[in-house]
Amino acid sequence: MAVLRFPDDNTRIESEPEIRAALAGMGIEYERWTLDRVPPDCSADEVLAAYAEEIAEMKRRGGYVTADVIDVNSSTPNLETMLARFDKEHTHDEDEVRFILAGRGIFFLALDGRVASVEVGPGDMLRVPRGTKHWFTLCEDRRIRAIRWFQETAGWTPHYTDSGVDKGYHPLCFGPAYLGRRVDTKIDLKA
Ligand SMILES: [Fe+2]
Repeated sequence: MAVLRFPDDNTRIESEPEIRAALAGMGIEYERWTLDRVPPDCSADEVLAAYAEEIAEMKRRGGYVTADVIDVNSSTPNLETMLARFDKEHTHDEDEVRFILAGRGIFFLALDGRVASVEVGPGDMLRVPRGTKHWFTLCEDRRIRAIRWFQETAGWTPHYTDSGVDKGYHPLCFGPAYLGRRVDTKIDLKA
């Protein structure tokens, strides 16, 4: 279950219909999908086979041509280098579409000058349209497994805005399954 927050005014939404409605108003699609198709330790190919229908439907909806499974944890080589590519505000020329199978992470979305954070966890599907300013990182346990969809087989490249807005927000996780620190995430840069 996701947690939607607006750190600037300390607003937090944890109800699925309210999260879906609020994100839809910002052009972001959010859904809850069932997780009972596959055991947690199954292979990527088994995931892709088990969710073949949803993967095909999402391809039709968004014009995506391929899907894969990303699976990282704290012992993944070069994990911090990989995360550093995406933890600064950027856009892509294609949508960022994720269905989370395991682990937790935070999407920060900069929309009309207001920052929203969406902490995603198992069962959450998020579709961020191309051109949306955002950044992403993992929760402190550094774990995520997700299905991704792509419009270009070559993948996608981040276009950095260099706004520095990302420096004002700590990616600390609040979700129901998360056992790490629970503190507010707005940093006062003037302090
Ligand atoms: Fe991105």
